[in-house]
Amino acid sequence: MFYLWRRSQVPLKQSIKFSRIDNLIIFLVCILISIISSFKLLLISPLNVADIFSWLLTFTEILIGSGILILVSKKENPTISSRQIFLIITLLLAVQAAKLALASTISPLSIIIPPALIISQGMGSITALAWVSIASFSWPDPEIIVDNNLFFILLVCASVVSLLGGRIRNRAQLLQLSIFVPIGAFLSQWILIGKDKISLIDKQEFVLAGGNIFSDSFLLAIVMLFTILFIPIFESIFGLLTKARLLELADKEKPLIRRLSLEAPGTFEHTLLICGLAEEATRMIGGDIDLIKTGGLYHDVGKLHAPNWFIENQDGSKNPHDELDDPIKSAEVLQAHVDEGLKFARKNRLPKLIANFIPEHQGTLRMGYFFQKAKEKNLDINENYFRYKGPIPQSKETAILMLADGCEAALRAMNINASDKEALKTISNIIFSRQNDGQLDDSNLSRGEIFLIKRAFLNVWKRIRHRRIQYPTSKNNTFS
Ligand SMILES: [Fe+2]
Ligand SMILES: [Fe+2]
Repeated sequence: MFYLWRRSQVPLKQSIKFSRIDNLIIFLVCILISIISSFKLLLISPLNVADIFSWLLTFTEILIGSGILILVSKKENPTISSRQIFLIITLLLAVQAAKLALASTISPLSIIIPPALIISQGMGSITALAWVSIASFSWPDPEIIVDNNLFFILLVCASVVSLLGGRIRNRAQLLQLSIFVPIGAFLSQWILIGKDKISLIDKQEFVLAGGNIFSDSFLLAIVMLFTILFIPIFESIFGLLTKARLLELADKEKPLIRRLSLEAPGTFEHTLLICGLAEEATRMIGGDIDLIKTGGLYHDVGKLHAPNWFIENQDGSKNPHDELDDPIKSAEVLQAHVDEGLKFARKNRLPKLIANFIPEHQGTLRMGYFFQKAKEKNLDINENYFRYKGPIPQSKETAILMLADGCEAALRAMNINASDKEALKTISNIIFSRQNDGQLDDSNLSRGEIFLIKRAFLNVWKRIRHRRIQYPTSKNNTFS
């Protein structure tokens, strides 16, 4: 019964546990946000019970809001780190402080929209929308009442930035966003508030903008441009993985990838092929294509430590494993491609989500060939010597890469005349063996998704087969 109950539940990705100190710091920042957002309510004199009650209500509201924000960000990014949570709440703290200090001089658009862009880029649209809702609804200074129309424009612009920011795939599109959003804000303020309106916030005078809607929107554009300029710094400090950063890392001119293509050409070819397989499968199940493309590119960089110890780089020359004639040592060389890969990842400052592909694509798989050889020599040999150290894939993407890695060699070696049925059978057998070995247990892949992955691999195999078919050529037919 328990087994059936467990199978019926949607498997959840295990979120990263934060240390106690991290939790404490995050909690203290949330308390600080609540204090900053509500302390002005206590400065009224004479203070009566109703005022204290309303302060307590606001304080609790902001504290709960911050908690919900953290939960939403964890739900959207199960592998989010404490540094990233810290960034989200620190931005909220900074915005609340900026509202106290600057709300009378700067339009709320310039205070709230730029941080929303950072969050949507690094943590996704849903987290950014949750952040925007807390940042827009709580105003620490009770004397400041934002014009209703301006508030509406603020919400619309911030939501557009949050939604588009999570999808934008390069810096050029970000630049376009930082131009078009302020233009949109300017036009909508012009239509809704009117070009003659001097003050957009009650009882305030604009020092910077002088109450001018144009300079107000101009300021927003400048702040957004500066934010885009600083996003790479946020990426490296807080380990953010924006779409733009992913695509930059996927550039084949990156030194590490260039080295792979020059020093381990066989591994490089293998990498390109499994990237093709994994990308098609990820598209089928609706996963993160940019993540798998980049992660796939780096999954075997560890083979650079000893390229000729891997079959794909041997090019018919001698196999050093034969000379070594020690299956346990050979297994250590194989494990080293994971350990060295992680070292390369650290040295090249690869984001954690990309580095995860290095150990997880091998999981705790058994090195079957060397295990068999060892068994021939000694029947009592411990299987654990011949298993990778893991961990097993923790995400759908790393699991797909493991499956693509397994199927690549088999598909490449397959006879060109093999039927689709035969290819599908080969793919299914490999996937089934991984599944049976418990390698996909933490990956969150459903049965339906595994079915789709098989179909995707088959489609790529058909493409490979098509490419390998020799076109008939004749001396007279050279024009095409
Ligand atoms: Fe590998
Ligand atoms: Fe590989």
